[in-house]
Amino acid sequence: RDPASTSLRTPIVAVLGHVDHGKTSLLDKIRGSAVIEGEAGAITQHIGATAVPLDIISTIAGDLVDPDDFDLPGLLFIDTPGHHSFTTLRSRGGALADIAILVVDVNDGFQPQTLEALDILKRSETPFIVAANKIDTVPGWNENEDSPINDTYESQSDRVRSRLDEQLYEIIGNLSDEGFSADLYWRVQNFQRNVGVVPVSAMTGEGVPDLLAVMMGLSQRYMKEEMEIDVQGPGVGTVLEVKDEKGFGTTIDTVLYDGTIRADDQLVVGGQNEPIVTDVRALLQPRPLAEIRTESRFEKVDEVGAAAGIKVAAPELDEAMAGAPVRVVRNRDLNDVIQEVQAELADIAVDTGEEGVVVKADTLGSLEAMADALDEAEVPIVRAEVGDVAPRDVSVASTADDPKQRVILGFNVDTLSDAERRAEADDVTIFTDEVIYQLIEEYEEFVEEMEQ
Ligand code: GTP
Ligand code: MG
Repeated sequence: RDPASTSLRTPIVAVLGHVDHGKTSLLDKIRGSAVIEGEAGAITQHIGATAVPLDIISTIAGDLVDPDDFDLPGLLFIDTPGHHSFTTLRSRGGALADIAILVVDVNDGFQPQTLEALDILKRSETPFIVAANKIDTVPGWNENEDSPINDTYESQSDRVRSRLDEQLYEIIGNLSDEGFSADLYWRVQNFQRNVGVVPVSAMTGEGVPDLLAVMMGLSQRYMKEEMEIDVQGPGVGTVLEVKDEKGFGTTIDTVLYDGTIRADDQLVVGGQNEPIVTDVRALLQPRPLAEIRTESRFEKVDEVGAAAGIKVAAPELDEAMAGAPVRVVRNRDLNDVIQEVQAELADIAVDTGEEGVVVKADTLGSLEAMADALDEAEVPIVRAEVGDVAPRDVSVASTADDPKQRVILGFNVDTLSDAERRAEADDVTIFTDEVIYQLIEEYEEFVEEMEQ
């Protein structure tokens, strides 16, 4: 790459965790702090993401972040709703997120989606820290709004401190049970080898300065080289979600992690059957909060550069898949780009055999994760696809001779009503769940009962 045209992009931070453990509140708190500092305009809302520039991080984190120590431009946070499978967050060759924050409620501890998140972080080798959230709920807690953890910790009574310590060591123990060596973040020397636990409250902002400082430090120290991109190069990204948008038809919410995308670009997007070749009709960004009352929720922009979340409106997107690659063609041979996208799709494709169960999942990433987990459980797969459970899936499952294989496993998907009726008639069993290992456990129980 020509060094003159390279620059450092914003690291992509995925915020993961069990439902209601406080992912969105944490991002709201960071946004809210910027508003209080009179810097509301500095934080930009993206599609599915929030960009926080370095100077704001430094304002919120105070002494903990000196902007002169960093040359990365800030952090781009992707919020993943608990019900939504964050396995979508994949990119060429692995995880879309450069780093992650796993949010754990100190009262509620490890829950199914916490374990699932850990499993995926492990598989994708994504460096992460744990935000031990809701520390303000410890009975007797003395609030110190927006304070670094050390200061607020010092101001608590012995009883509160030891209660919090207990909760934190429980989380550290849980992490160790899952094979991660973890400790309170200020004791961690090497964040690549050990997981740092940061006590926070998304409600009071306590510990949020620490969280931002650790994320910045981690990115700067270990990710800097990977953040070098060709700022003017053709964009590369991943589909987060395929959505119908009034007035625009089918659109793809995309996270761009390299290069730029322009309003007049030609794109190749991974589709259900083959790569989709299309021309951008509009690049859409959410309007700033202040303008929310205007006619359209979106603002058209001419160009966006990585890293960013952007909604792309273009024709022919009906068959686009969440988790699929998006590539800008610009000044390159279209066929080369189609081949790149095909190669990337082939890389994700699940190996299927002559017989086995039918697997459906909401995104390419989750399909991949399902296939991995089934492979480990030694369950063969006959068909694996992104999408809801449909009658044709029942037809495939019903051809199995082995009753253990007259089964459809659906992860984070719905079952169409005619598929349900058909399954009943054809003696096919459909399992659906929002947690992969639970889904597999349900299936294993079914097999065990059958074998008795
Ligand atoms: P999903 O998007 O549904 O997965 O949930 P989430 O992880 O985004 O959780 P959310 O931020 O919506 O918070 C869930 C509830 O916990 C809300 O009622 C929050 O007000 C509350 N909450 C979040 N963080 C804190 C905290 O630090 N302290 C206290 N006391 N409550 C919190
Ligand atoms: Mg949320």
